[in-house]
Amino acid sequence: MAEYKLLFEHSHDPNFRTLAGYQGTGGFEALKKALGMERQAIIDEIKASGLRGRGGAGFPTWIKWNGIPKEKTAPHHYILCNADEGEPGTFKDKQLLETTPFLLIEGMTIAGFATKADVGYVYIRGEFIDAAKALRSAIDEAYAAGLLGKNILGSGFDFDLHIHLGAGSYECGEESALMSSLMGERGMPRLKFPHAPLPTIAGLFDFPTVINNVETYCCAPFILNKGGNWYATLGASTKNSRGTKIFSVSGHVNKPGNFEVEFGTPLRDLLEMAGGVKGGKLKACVPGGSSVPIITAADVDKAIIGYEEMAEVKSMVGSGASMFLNEHTCIVSFIWRTAMFYAMESCGKCTPCREGTKWMLQIMERIVQGNGQKGDMDLLLDITKQLDGRSFCGLGDAAAWPVAAALRVFPEEFEYYIEHGKSMVQTAESKNLMPVEHQLALR
Ligand SMILES: Cc1cc2nc3c(=O)[nH]c(=O)nc-3n(C[C@H](O)[C@H](O)[C@H](O)COP(=O)(O)O)c2cc1C
Ligand code: SF4
Repeated sequence: MAEYKLLFEHSHDPNFRTLAGYQGTGGFEALKKALGMERQAIIDEIKASGLRGRGGAGFPTWIKWNGIPKEKTAPHHYILCNADEGEPGTFKDKQLLETTPFLLIEGMTIAGFATKADVGYVYIRGEFIDAAKALRSAIDEAYAAGLLGKNILGSGFDFDLHIHLGAGSYECGEESALMSSLMGERGMPRLKFPHAPLPTIAGLFDFPTVINNVETYCCAPFILNKGGNWYATLGASTKNSRGTKIFSVSGHVNKPGNFEVEFGTPLRDLLEMAGGVKGGKLKACVPGGSSVPIITAADVDKAIIGYEEMAEVKSMVGSGASMFLNEHTCIVSFIWRTAMFYAMESCGKCTPCREGTKWMLQIMERIVQGNGQKGDMDLLLDITKQLDGRSFCGLGDAAAWPVAAALRVFPEEFEYYIEHGKSMVQTAESKNLMPVEHQLALR
């Protein structure tokens, strides 16, 4: 299957980043249509589309929108956009913000109207300066044209949209930590349902809040324009994944970049879109961002892009970031670097993650330095079990999955490294890699 450009149809066109260019391709027609609809009818279209959140968990979008109280008794209802995009390998939201900012504004305003929200925030990763600038300019144009602010398009609906730049913390992408950060608190997660109310009841500043990913909101204008039933025809070959999904493809490929595909596309086709493997044969793939389980080349041939389908090869769609690794990759070193990331990003609030990520890193480090001990694999696996499902937020799970999967899928690489004190991948290319000690010194 080839690329299916829906969100990305005009992303190559600089005019699309201006209001005139966006409106020239039908931009804001969906908002006009939505403003003339019953609020519930909008939510019903989103339901019919089968849209699921593109931030990682794949939660049905309509359930969140529908969960906001129908009568507005709180002073504010909020629409939050998660543009933190911290998962290593993922860079799709950055491109959407830079090249299709009006799509996001339109999608968030539609969500705002459907949920009686009056304020929206886009929480952008601090390093994404170009993305923030592109969105700033688009928001300014939208205000000047009466598409944001008071009495939008004469409908009586008021909606303000603000940008908030984060400081580049991965944990601030976790929705409750994002809200803490936005409220001026430390970027740490909060207690969740069923131990606390859902964000739709008490989210930002304890008021009803919808939080979705950039890509999720960008789908809304298409759903409103063409209908939920039309959108649901995309990906109909899968069990329960509808529409398109943008994948950030990186690693050993000839043409890294973002590719938009219809759900149901074979993972192998995504690799071909990225120009195929570079520098040797394919060895492995991390299909959905650094936290999802690694799979073998044989599983790449079987994998179909879909939330349930990817589970058949024991992995996930995740945030949509496929890293393809060639035969010269040392899986142990690769996982060591992944473990380093999660240990550094752990916020320290809960013991399993604060201690567990550090212990995993210490063990991984002694292995890659040639000092691995018999029993280290069992020890690592045991720590992953103490993290997975036992941490306060999803970062603990995200830290455990890559290590557990690598031990399951490539045990011989760990065994060899521990026994011989060096990687079993001894090729000219891998010998040219920076020595482990130097990499540690750079941390
Ligand atoms: C540690 C951690 C980091 C996360 N980072 C992001 C992120 O950068 N962007 C994002 O959209 N979701 C991220 N999520 C998922 C969010 O918590 C949330 O589920 C998502 O923003 C909901 O939007 P969606 O339903 O449209 O996917 C992260 C989750 C965890 C546990
Ligand atoms: S799992 Fe615990 S320590 Fe890790 S980021 Fe979440 S709250 Fe913080």
